[in-house]
Amino acid sequence: MSFPNHRPRRLRTTPAMRRLTAENRLAPADLILPAFIREGLTEPSPITSMPGVVQHTTDSLKRAAAEAVELGVGGIMLFGVPAVRDARGTASLDPDGVLNKAIRDVKAEVGDHLVIMGDVCLDEFTDHGHCGVLDAEGYVDNDATLEIYGQMAVAQAEAGAHVLGPSGMMDGQIAVIRQALEESGHKNTAVLAYAAKYASAFYGPFREAVDSQLKGDRRTYQMDAANRREAILEVELDLEEGADMVMVKPAMSYLDILADVAAMSPVPVSAYQISGEYAMIEAAAANGWIDRRGAITESVLGIKRAGADTVLTYWASELAGWLKES
Ligand code: PBG
Repeated sequence: MSFPNHRPRRLRTTPAMRRLTAENRLAPADLILPAFIREGLTEPSPITSMPGVVQHTTDSLKRAAAEAVELGVGGIMLFGVPAVRDARGTASLDPDGVLNKAIRDVKAEVGDHLVIMGDVCLDEFTDHGHCGVLDAEGYVDNDATLEIYGQMAVAQAEAGAHVLGPSGMMDGQIAVIRQALEESGHKNTAVLAYAAKYASAFYGPFREAVDSQLKGDRRTYQMDAANRREAILEVELDLEEGADMVMVKPAMSYLDILADVAAMSPVPVSAYQISGEYAMIEAAAANGWIDRRGAITESVLGIKRAGADTVLTYWASELAGWLKES
């Protein structure tokens, strides 16, 4: 009788052994909670396609932020849903507009105990739902949009955001935002570049979450799902332009991209587990087809293992609670 020379199973014998030898671990501090606030709401409003996620009121958002701090969550990424929209997304620049006010309110609630991030993008604020302003042909005008992004970034920095997350995929957006921040004295406001952001069907539920007015798609500015090398180019450009952190988005269908970026990026890498990824797992779990907690934990761990330093996930607080427990 010959015996195996190697028995990898030895390290799997007990939970304590598996814990000791785990190559990757989740920690609450690695998690970033994306949160929506809707102007004029009196009660939090459930998002049907994202069971468990709501559009917040000011009060419920402040509570969610305080809870995140309590649970050790690393950051919060804020998205605003304005009451009034126009072609240029003007409400994004109003210091008292929904998103800028939310940043200020959350900052007043939690101070520097949570990294407060703001979405720098026009899609929630435009009446056509695109991430920028349109030219005469209906094409998103890159350079005209950049000007507004610069102003938006300054407004969010003024409101107290620690980090800005430009998610519109305009060419040159990081450079313009960095310059606007420097010129306005916000030298310590960091930029998390949505560097490799793909046009994805998995953003579906987010459209409901922000009451998006979009008809059509974003394929003329977001990346094509077929492309892998191009992600490296996008990351290199954003690093050259001054990005402090870079992101890959979506996460689960783009783990190869995430691994590529993690291998070359000298700055921290984020991955965004987006609305459709959330919805798929919630829907399967609601049907009793998969174990909810197991699937959530495994999905975020897989994103971490692929190379993410931080993960934006709508389960951030719940998952942080589980991690604290165990
Ligand atoms: C654009 C933006 C989107 C998401 C985050 N920022 C939508 C899009 O690009 O179409 C999607 C996030 C999600 O689906 O969870 N401001």
